[in-house]
Amino acid sequence: MKFFIDTADITEIRDLAATGLVDGVTTNPSLVAKSGARFLDLIPQICEVVPGPVSAEVAATDFETMLAEGRKLAKIAKNIAVKVPLTPAGLKVCRTLADAGTMVNVTLCFSAGQAILAAKAGASFISPFVGRLDDIGENGMQLIADIVEIYRQYPAIKTEVLVASIRGPQHVIQAAKLGAHVGTMPPAALRALFNHPLTDKGLTAFVADWQKTGQSILDEHELSALKQQKSAA
Ligand code: G3P
Repeated sequence: MKFFIDTADITEIRDLAATGLVDGVTTNPSLVAKSGARFLDLIPQICEVVPGPVSAEVAATDFETMLAEGRKLAKIAKNIAVKVPLTPAGLKVCRTLADAGTMVNVTLCFSAGQAILAAKAGASFISPFVGRLDDIGENGMQLIADIVEIYRQYPAIKTEVLVASIRGPQHVIQAAKLGAHVGTMPPAALRALFNHPLTDKGLTAFVADWQKTGQSILDEHELSALKQQKSAA
């Protein structure tokens, strides 16, 4: 499963991209507002840091303006995926941009029927929001299971299931078990995946036991070269 990060915080993006675990980025108007950044300055910066798909969402809701916005956003970089809402006008924009070779991420998907429409409109990604469904007492992960099953019936469908509105590691694990193509997660959810108390406990014991041996893998010369390299970075 590909890992996208769901944030417009460029510092977080740089930090997490350095782990080598980030395959793409998704943003939305709420995340941009939260970041305080100027959207048209931010998106090119993100596209430079992460070579994979970077979702940039249109702001309008009518066909003509969304299409003009989408075309402008698509020109920013080759790895832009224009994000459009799952509305009749949004899917019309999706079809137009997809036919022109632009990646499109169709967002705000809450039903399998909507996901079928997005695939028919040529979306590169469909974004079902699992957390928001869970929040209202529905089963977000069941929607992922349904969409994955439906898309699998039609090998011609190239739309990737991008699990969005992820709240934590369990959503990521469940989405991976279902074979979803992508999970987009807030930085905290990605960081939480690293954590296990037995990992911390085990590492503390390994470090302590290694010290008892009095040995070092790197010799003094190698250690000082490494120190210099670190301070230069
Ligand atoms: O970017 C779309 C989606 O991931 C938003 O998630 O947490 O606002 O429901 P959330």
